[in-house]
Amino acid sequence: MERIFYVNGKYLPASQAVVSAEDRGFNFGDGVYEVVHWYNYQPFLLEEHVERLIQSASVIKIDLPWSKEELIDIAIETAKQNNLKDDYIYMQISRGAAIRQHSFPDSTQPTLVMNSQPSAKPAKEIIQKGARVITIPDIRWLHCDIKALSALANVLAKQAAKEHSVDDVLYDRAGVGVVEGGSSNIFYYKEGKLYTPPLSPYIFPGITRAKVIEVAKECNIPLEEKVFSLKEVLDADEVMLASTGYEVLSVTEVNGQKIGRGVPGDISKELLQTYTKHVKEACY
Ligand code: PDD
Repeated sequence: MERIFYVNGKYLPASQAVVSAEDRGFNFGDGVYEVVHWYNYQPFLLEEHVERLIQSASVIKIDLPWSKEELIDIAIETAKQNNLKDDYIYMQISRGAAIRQHSFPDSTQPTLVMNSQPSAKPAKEIIQKGARVITIPDIRWLHCDIKALSALANVLAKQAAKEHSVDDVLYDRAGVGVVEGGSSNIFYYKEGKLYTPPLSPYIFPGITRAKVIEVAKECNIPLEEKVFSLKEVLDADEVMLASTGYEVLSVTEVNGQKIGRGVPGDISKELLQTYTKHVKEACY
């Protein structure tokens, strides 16, 4: 069965799902997006993702003609049309199609596309052994807090991981520290305490990050939000990445150096188990 896309008011098979060649998403990456995980035919944290989509659009001054409820309805209908069980719904919004000029066009309808996509859940082996990552200089812009369509630096970062035969990267920002994974938030655990960078323009305010903070409280694991260096990551007992696709993924090697004992630790396991409990309660 061909996947069904929602494109500007219509549900269309993938082969017919097109946007204008003058779409500003294509010309400038001028737009925002979101990814929601469906489990067992049910969305997980859909409302939170849609709220963040609206927030991202508002930061780049795209005036949305859809209410939160309408966006939620379209996402649910797109999932239904695709008989979506355990995968993603992507929601992409651009400023719309217009003759190419950088400043905003006077009157253009935003483009909205929603589609299903296989989830990026890591392979079983990576979950069992932990991920191997390398650090790369963070060349991204100073608005990493919005989910912008223009993700070129992330594309290059993920490709670098592939070329180095590792699972992912950590962004190391000059003068700041280790801020995030390639498309995930980072946590580390050291001597009884969990650490994650505070919200700032350098990191994306992940919905999973927020959930993991909630889960850590539930598990009575003390947590501190602070900026940290690569040295602290390398000296950690455990390192983990959190995202819609990864959930909580243990990192066991950074730049060829083992983290802790080089296997997924008890805290990563406990956080993942409790996160999974929340998914089960919401979707099963
Ligand atoms: N990426 N940081 C970055 C740079 C990201 O791209 C993502 C998500 C996250 C985690 O956000 P969340 O917990 O809301 O998924 C953090 C998604 C999965 C993607 O681009 O496909």
